[in-house]
Amino acid sequence: MAAQGTDAFVISELLIREIEAADVIVLGTPMHNFTVPSCLKAWLDHVMLMGRTIGSGPDGKFGLLADRPVYVAIASGDILSGPGAKQPDHLTPYLGTAFGCIGLSSMFVFAIQNTARTEMNELVDRIDQLRPTISRTICDRPVQAAETA
Ligand SMILES: Cc1cc2nc3c(=O)[nH]c(=O)nc-3n(C[C@H](O)[C@H](O)[C@H](O)COP(=O)(O)O)c2cc1C
Repeated sequence: MAAQGTDAFVISELLIREIEAADVIVLGTPMHNFTVPSCLKAWLDHVMLMGRTIGSGPDGKFGLLADRPVYVAIASGDILSGPGAKQPDHLTPYLGTAFGCIGLSSMFVFAIQNTARTEMNELVDRIDQLRPTISRTICDRPVQAAETA
């Protein structure tokens, strides 16, 4: 049991150092059952580590990593959120909370929604239409050198 615990901490440390070495984080994820897929949840469980990436004080938890932009591309079979959505979106707010909790509070989301009811050529068109927004969002932000706070 102790050995397994140690192995888990080694993996956590490797994954956290990947974040610390990154100027920006780019994440592509589908919506699975209204939230993140289990593999992304497993990654979050590794990098959200009390005393390493999360501090705790009288006012609650706070992030220990230096902020850097997190760009998230989401694909969802149905409409993700907003008017017309017939499902709750636990993915976007959860990811914002999780990244914010470790100190990464600058999250930008790009979504391709309703993939289950959209032809591939239309999806490609929609991705093309998103490109200028993605470029503006990413290029207008000065990239800070990654460092731990
Ligand atoms: C296990 C599973 C659960 C899913 N749950 C949802 C869901 O809750 N809401 C939704 O809009 N789409 C859901 N989908 C559809 C995916 O989000 C959609 O197919 C998306 O385009 C997947 O991206 P990908 O093809 O790049 O994996 C689910 C798909 C799978 C396989």
